[in-house]
Order: sequence, then C-alpha cells, then structure tokens
Amino acid sequence: MIGITSFGAYIPRLRLSRSSIVQNMGWFAPAIMAVSQGERSMCNWDEDAITMAVAAARDCLVGQDKAALDALYLASTTLPFADRQNAGIVSAALNLSDEMITADYTASQKVATTALITALESIQGGNRKKILVTAADKRETKTAYFYEMWFGDGAAALSVGDENVIAEYLGSYSLSCDFVDHYRGSFNKYDYVWEERWTRDVGYGEIIPKAVNGLFAKLGISMDDVDKLVYPCFFKGDHRKIAKRLGATPEKLVDNMHEVCGETGAAHAFMMFIAALEQAEPGERILLVGFGQGANALYFRVTDHIRGLAARNGVAGSLANKKPIDNYQKWLKFRDLLKTEMGIRAEAPTQTATTVLWRKNQMILGLVGGKCRECGTPQFPRMDYCVNPSCGALDSQDDYEFADAPARVKTFTGDMLAISVDPPAIYGMVQFDEGGRMMVDFTDCELDDVKVGLRVQMALKRKVEDPERGFVNYFWKAVPVPGAVEEMNKVRFDGRVAIITGAGAGLGRTYALELAKRGARIVVNDLGGARDGSGQGSSSPAEKVVAEIEALGGEAVPNFDNVATVEGGQAIVKTAMDAFGTVDIVINNAGILRDKSFTKMEPENWKAVLDVHLNGAYNVTRPAFKIMKEKGYGRIIMTTSAAGIYGNFGQTNYSAAKLGLVGLMNTLKLEGKKYNIGVNTIAPIAASRLTEDILPPDLLEKMKPEFVTPMVMYLCSDACRSTGEIFNAGMGYYNRVAVMTGPGIQLETEALPTVEMVADNFDAINTLAGARELGDANAALMDLMTPPAAPEPEAAPAGDDGGSGIDVQALFDAMAATFKADAAAGVDVVFQFHIGGPGGGDWYAVIKDSACSLTAGQHEKPVCTLKMADKDFAAMMGGKLPAMQAFTAGKLVIEGDIMKSQLLEKLFTF
Ligand code: NAI
Repeated sequence: MIGITSFGAYIPRLRLSRSSIVQNMGWFAPAIMAVSQGERSMCNWDEDAITMAVAAARDCLVGQDKAALDALYLASTTLPFADRQNAGIVSAALNLSDEMITADYTASQKVATTALITALESIQGGNRKKILVTAADKRETKTAYFYEMWFGDGAAALSVGDENVIAEYLGSYSLSCDFVDHYRGSFNKYDYVWEERWTRDVGYGEIIPKAVNGLFAKLGISMDDVDKLVYPCFFKGDHRKIAKRLGATPEKLVDNMHEVCGETGAAHAFMMFIAALEQAEPGERILLVGFGQGANALYFRVTDHIRGLAARNGVAGSLANKKPIDNYQKWLKFRDLLKTEMGIRAEAPTQTATTVLWRKNQMILGLVGGKCRECGTPQFPRMDYCVNPSCGALDSQDDYEFADAPARVKTFTGDMLAISVDPPAIYGMVQFDEGGRMMVDFTDCELDDVKVGLRVQMALKRKVEDPERGFVNYFWKAVPVPGAVEEMNKVRFDGRVAIITGAGAGLGRTYALELAKRGARIVVNDLGGARDGSGQGSSSPAEKVVAEIEALGGEAVPNFDNVATVEGGQAIVKTAMDAFGTVDIVINNAGILRDKSFTKMEPENWKAVLDVHLNGAYNVTRPAFKIMKEKGYGRIIMTTSAAGIYGNFGQTNYSAAKLGLVGLMNTLKLEGKKYNIGVNTIAPIAASRLTEDILPPDLLEKMKPEFVTPMVMYLCSDACRSTGEIFNAGMGYYNRVAVMTGPGIQLETEALPTVEMVADNFDAINTLAGARELGDANAALMDLMTPPAAPEPEAAPAGDDGGSGIDVQALFDAMAATFKADAAAGVDVVFQFHIGGPGGGDWYAVIKDSACSLTAGQHEKPVCTLKMADKDFAAMMGGKLPAMQAFTAGKLVIEGDIMKSQLLEKLFTF
C-alpha cells in the first residue's frame, strides 16, 4: 500500500488580529473591514519559508526514522534563494544523509500537491521508498490590502512511503493551464492581482470543479465516495458555493481556516488536509485539491495506522500555541514595511564566507556537536579535546545532534543596546539535559517569559541577513517549549508544609485540597464539633479530607485537636513536626458561631467564640511562628469577617474576635518581617455550614468556597510579598480592605483646644478625603507630629461648570425610541458602549428576538464594543457625524466583531 505515512505542521506563534489592521488602516481602506474576522498567522522577524519548512518537517518526523528518507521536496513561492537550493538547506538542518534527491518546487500555489503526486508516483514506480514533502509560504503584501487580511504564514509537511501508511493513495488527476489570477515577476516583492471576480468565478469557480469531476471520471467515483473535501479558497462564500455545486454537503467541506490563521499559500492545501487527517477515522475518504495555474486532485482513504501515529503538534497544536498581537506597527516593522533607524552598529559587515559555511555546515545548519567516546560527555561545538576536565581525551568525539536534545535556560539577559528588530535582544546560555551547553539567542518569547530553568527547544531561525548580497544566514535559537512558561509561572508549594485549622469542611477543606494539589504536605486539623462548637468532637471530617487528598496523590495527616486551648495549638504544630519535620504555612480558619443580640450575649457565648477564633489563632500560630523564625520563612493567614470589619447585628462576640485577629496580624507582620514571614488576613464570603441559614439560598448557590481559595493560595505562596494586608474574597471578586487615616486638622498646639473648636471643625476632622494608610504605630505617631498642610478647597463637581453638559442617558433613551424592530429579524447581538468625557459611562444594548433593551453598565460578553467621547456620541446621535466618518477619523474605536457594528445604522435612526 502506498500513501501518506506521517504529517507535521508549523504555524508561527504570532497571530495578528485583523481588527488591528482595520483600526490602523481602516481610515484609508474602509472596505477591508468586510474580511476583518479573526486573526492571521504572522512570522516572527527571524522566520521565513525555510525556517517554517524545517519546523513542519521536524514535526512530521516525530517517531519516524529519518535515515529511511531518500528524497526531500520543498514547495514554496517565497523561497529566500533563487539559485542555491533551498531544499538543500532544509535537508542540512534536518541533518539528513547526502545520498538523496532534494528539489525545490515553486512558482505556483498548487506546487505542494504537484510535489506530492511526483513523490507518490516515484514510490509507486519502485524507485524510492520514503519521501518527505514540505511546503511553506510567507507571502508579502502592501499594507491596507485585502490580501494582507486573507494571507497567513505557515508550513506543512507530509511523508509518503509504502510502510505504515495512514492514508492510502487511490489516484490523482491534474490540470495544467496558464490561468493567471495573480503573478509575481522575478524581481518583484508583491503579487500583482487581477480583479477578484476573475479569480473567484473563472479561477476557483471553474477550475476546481473541473479537476474534481475529472478525478471522479478517472476513478469511477462520485461525491458519495468522499467524506471530506479539501481545497483552499480564501473567499469564504465561494469556498462554500463550490462545494455545493459539486454536490457536497456542508459537513464534508473542510474549513478554510480564515479566522484562525489565514491562507498559508503553497502550504495551505496540506494545512487543511492535515487538519482533516487529525480528525479522521479509519476508512474515511478524503479528496484533496491544490489550485494554481490549473489544479491537482488527489484521493485518499484513511487507514487504521492513523491511530498509532506518535503525538505531535500538527495543525491543532500549532494553532493552540499562539500569542495574539494587535501591535500593527510591529507587523509593519517585521515585514519591512516601516523603515526605522537601526543605528551605526547595524552597519557592521554581514558578508558570509561560504568556505566556512561549507566546512562547518553540519555544525551551523545541523546543530551537530560532539560526544566523547571515552566519558560520554556531549559538547558544542565539537573540538579535538573533550571538555570534561576529568577526561580531556583527544580525538574522541563522535557526531552528536543537539537539535532535538531537551534543554533549560541556564543564564539569560535582555539587551536593549544590541541591534534587534524586536528589542530587547534576549540571549544567554542553555544547558542540555543530557550534557552540553551553548550560548544562544532566545526567540518566540518575551523577556518576562524567560527564567532560569525554563524548558526550551532548539529551532532553526534566520540569524543574519546580508541585503546587499541577498544572503541569509541561518542558525539555531532557543524557543520556550509550548506551555513551559505557564508551567513555570504556576504557583507551587512543593516541599512546603501547611497547617489548616478547621479544614474538615467548608473553606478550610478547599484550601487543603488546593495546597495539596500544588505539592504541599498538609495537616488537616478539625475538631469535628457542632456549628456552635458544642458537643463531642468527631474525627471523621478531618479524616475524610485526608482521604480526598490521598486520592489525588497528595500527602496529608489528620489532627483532631481543639484550637481553643494552648495544648491543642501545640499538639497541632507537633503533628506537623512529627509527620513532616517543619511548618511553612498556617491558615487560621477554624470557626464557630453563637449569635445573639448584645444584651442576651451571656459570658459563655462571648468567651467560646473568642476562644476559637482569636485565642485559637494565638494558640496555633505561636508555636508555629517559632519554627518559621528559626528557618527564616513563613506564610500565615488570619480569617476575619465582614462582621468584624463593618459590623453585623447579633454578632458582637464574633465581630470582636474577628477584628481582634486583624490586630494580631498588624503586630505580627512587624515581628515576622525580617524573617520573611508574611502575615495576611482574608475576609471570605462563601456558602458553608456557617452561612447556610444566614444567606438566601439563591445567593449561596453562587458562593462556592472555591472562589475564595485562589486568593488564599496566592497569599500563602513564595511569590506573595504583601504582609499585613486584608482582602475581601468571594464569588470571584477580590479587593483590599484597609484602615485609613484622614488628613484631619491641626488645632491649637500651645493652648489647649476647646470643645467648641472641635465642634466648629468637626467636618475637617471627620473627612476621609485624602486619607492615607499608615504602616504601624510609629508611622501614626509621626503623622500626629507632622500634620499635613490644610487641604485645598475641593474642586467643584464636574457638570457644574467643567462638565460637558451632555446627558448621555437621555441620548440612549432617545436611541432606544428609534429602534427599528422590523430590521432586527434574526439579529442576536450585544453592543457595549463606552462613552468617555464628563457625561460618559458604560451602557449596553441587547438586541434579540426583534427587541432591544438598553441598560447602563457593562455586559459580560459583548459582541462588539464601541468607544467614543460624549460630545462625538452626541454628534453621531444627532445625525451630524456619520458613524463611518467617526470611525475613519479615529473618533469611534470599535473592538470585537467589527462587522456587527455596521448593523447599528440599520437598526437605529440617528
Ligand atoms: P465551616 O463551619 O464549614 O468550617 C469551620 C470548621 O472549623 C468546621 O469544620 C469546624 O468543625 C471547625 N472547628 C470549629 N471549631 C473548631 C475548633 N475549636 N478546633 C478545630 N476545628 C474547629 O465554616 P466556614 O464558612 O468554612 O468558615 C471558615 C472560616 O471562615 C471561619 O473562621 C469563619 O468564621 C470564616 N468566615 C466565613 C464566612 C463565610 O461566608 N463562610 C464569612 C466570614 C468569615
């Protein structure tokens, strides 16, 4: 059986949002808005067709024996060299054998399928066994042009052979004709494009169906024998229309990927084909067409081997590894559409000695170093002597390929002074896991992403360009492994030991589970008593949570001691020491309630609540603090409550205890500071046993304790540098609470101020305008001794004389009145308006089922957001400023689905 044996793809990580092109150039070419959905893939400044082809080929070779290849074809219309075989560079980068055929296929969009047919037929003829066909394109366009929107950059590769075939080749049909919809002269950078309807109607619209019908006739099949139909066509509507005309149902048609990356030129037929293969089931039949000066149609049947193909990035993985970008200037700079001053350093000679390139070809293009036969130490570059000081053998080096060797960042720097198209230039040393290190450039990352220890992989990129002679030098750079930056930024607690009191239920349980999931070892303390702290304790809540942690693969021990006693506190800390040898984190969370109005608050209810909350925190934290101080690390969390911070009827005992914890924190933060012990306080709000009958059931539904957990996790982490702070947390909303001190007023200092003076100045004493937070009691004393100057009189409120006087709400009311329900049939859209200026604010319009509602505020998921100043909005609503004019003049900024904004003028009368 002959056919496809493997596939691979590469789509550059950068994705330029098309709306950013419209935002920047819509004033000049408003029509481009019609194709402004989604994003287009965009090469980094050091990428081109060769680097992308190498990346796709490497993806295709995952799990394959590259030594078995006996030909390599490269298809592209944007090859960097007109005479120096580009496929030869790809072959050298892949470190393939010299004993093979390499060839460039170029000058038409359909070349990848031509190369594929040639490869398949050469295997059919028995002359070759395994061939790699890789295709890539990075097409240039002028700015503010439809093709700038339609095109994307990318590469795809297929290997073909007669073993382990994943898609059997069942035949092909080719048409060749000199149909010119666009062309690029040898010395031109940009395509010259004939009228779109010519390309659409006579090109795609006639030639693709002719090729498909030709294949059907040749193989004696029909559309019923096709499960997936693949052909590139960047006109979305015509893409669908052609399929319909061919009798294909919409499910058969493979998406043209306009929204996710754009059309990747000569690579695009492969790209869509691979997207189909990634979803395909054995037995599925795929028809693939490549278009350009005729067309090639190929027919395949997917086999069982597709299930055994090794995991790879492919199209899906490449699409997932993305960095959205809306910096259009960057795009212009990367594509050389913007001339910037590069400085004198950029004028250094860039001529390449091809003699050296030949002698060091394997090292430079193949990243081949050496490995010592005697001691096994790898090194780059390869040298006569082994670098291992305890070996030092002479002439002991065998070839060693570093390109696929896993590595990590050892050192790095961001250099703003070095010349770079995308400053800062990031470079440093990488350490290969199995030995060997080298100085390299880092690319496809931001300086903030790079950290010592970050996992990186090597990738061939453009190193230096010599524009004078038209030469490009390639070398290997380090790129973060997809997902490695996120992995490194994850908050982890490996090696940390945490005590959580009252962790058998409610909030404490979620803290324990999350800390354990992130690597901490946990003491799950819970007395297991009743909600008011009465009754015999039970071991089951703590044991249950320990079992949950163990089921997740974590480590935890239970503890059933009572936090309300000194002995209990000590025993809890001892449990941590006995089980894990230390304490890094304490979350004082255990709690009970005994609510009564103040006159009915008997001493035992007062005391019981203070004992658990306030004394409980003292009892547990004190022995733990001693250990933390000795080791120079600690994170402590107190749990306060809105009842303590703001007050709550019937909870005098609880409020006093809860704000007492804030006092404890305020001083402990000072005592812990120089030992790197952070002490913070959380004021949670969550559904639990404590709140089940206090809060209404529908609210409780929305108040999962897990919404509080992330805040507590961060406060417990190494990364958290805050100390002595209080945070509200609940339902995904987090904010800081602070005790603030007003500016006040200095009355008499010599003579004693009178009561009447206080009365007369009470407003100034009482004001919090200009209030500040004071770090400790000393700061408060200093504040007292150095009172601020008398405050400036407050500015008159906006609107009196400084405001615009525009009543934006009235404008929205008027807008609602002009809604044209009959024009809104089938429309389902949410517009968010952000109106600036003194009269501004947020409003949103929901249009659905031929009705419109206009509301003040922000919608959760607007489809399209419109931003403008209140005076411009008033002019637009008054019919004095047409929307398009406002847009092109930059007075109206549109985000999200720009196309939908065009509905506004249809739906409302301005
Ligand atoms: P919860 O009742 O679900 O959990 C508290 C746990 O503490 C219980 O499992 C209980 O057995 C345990 N406990 C009680 N006394 C103990 C003692 N002496 N020794 C050891 N364990 C003991 O309540 P929830 O809501 O999870 O409360 C956790 C903390 O959050 C409490 O300090 C509470 O005051 C505070 N809080 C909760 C709010 C909420 O909306 N749920 C609001 C504000 C504060």
